[in-house]
Amino acid sequence: MIEFFEQYKEKQKKVEEKLREILPDKNTPPKPMYEIMHYVLFNGGKRIRPILTLSVNEILNGDIDLALISGCAVEIVHNSSLIFDDLPSMDNASIRRGKLCVHKVYPEGQVIIVADAMMNFAFEILYSGLIEKDEDLALKMINILAKTIGSQGMVAGQFYDLLESKNFNLSNLRYIHLNKTGKLIETSVLFGVLTSQYNDKILKKFSAYAKIIGLTFQIIDDILDYEGDAERLGKLPGKDKELNKLSFVSYFGLNKAKQIANKLFDNAISLLRSFKGDIEFLEALTTFLFKRNY
Ligand code: IPE
Ligand code: IPE
Ligand code: MG
Ligand code: MG
Ligand code: MG
Repeated sequence: MIEFFEQYKEKQKKVEEKLREILPDKNTPPKPMYEIMHYVLFNGGKRIRPILTLSVNEILNGDIDLALISGCAVEIVHNSSLIFDDLPSMDNASIRRGKLCVHKVYPEGQVIIVADAMMNFAFEILYSGLIEKDEDLALKMINILAKTIGSQGMVAGQFYDLLESKNFNLSNLRYIHLNKTGKLIETSVLFGVLTSQYNDKILKKFSAYAKIIGLTFQIIDDILDYEGDAERLGKLPGKDKELNKLSFVSYFGLNKAKQIANKLFDNAISLLRSFKGDIEFLEALTTFLFKRNY
């Protein structure tokens, strides 16, 4: 496990460095636009999405530069989505990653347009990082990212999440989780595959794995919101209950939600093990994602 965390930190460092390299300096005008981006992006996120991209790419002996830049594009989208998610008109959060939410530090209007700019910035870097090496791949991945986060993807999930949940059923719950959180995680894995040599069989297997971990990532988030520790989480638990959210815990109860997560964990691991390659790090990463307490 110690070795896992060392490798995890190494990958995290690569991501941090790349993000710092591509993001304009925080003094770049108009002030404080980039200051806001820096506040959000360099604030202690786990970076699990780009780390997933890197790990899958590594298993498939892919192009690490392409994996890194595309993973960073996903991470920027993720950070932007958290800005929106925390706003008073959405989840009304005050703490994120152990610090004040960005809208508690900077004027809310400025923060909203910066989140908007970040979504676009992700596409800019995806385009410029890929176009010279592989134009077809660049277009393909831009299209995938647009669909992942658009009105039939992450935004659709977030939209349903905001609606009155009294009459919602299990299919609504799955839809919300698969879209608001699952799709971006799926895309992180997919980007690892697409930046490598792969065939249909490999793609299918990783897609099935990705769908499971995407859904389960949000189930665990629901569980942590119910029973997690504020200090460890870096955000205040109990929000889902306070806001009457449809979550795996509100729908199934804590124990059943945990059982479901465990079953999905077993499925994800056996899918991984059916793959002939060096999956050791990805298996440990998957275990971390499912057993995490933050
Ligand atoms: C939190 O995501 C929001 C969800 C989509 C569940 P993470 O748990 O990946 O947050 P950070 O980036 O590590 O802070
Ligand atoms: C966030 O889900 C999903 C997105 C940001 C797209 P949550 O609202 O459950 O995430 P936390 O708990 O605030 O991190
Ligand atoms: Mg939310
Ligand atoms: Mg939230
Ligand atoms: Mg949550």
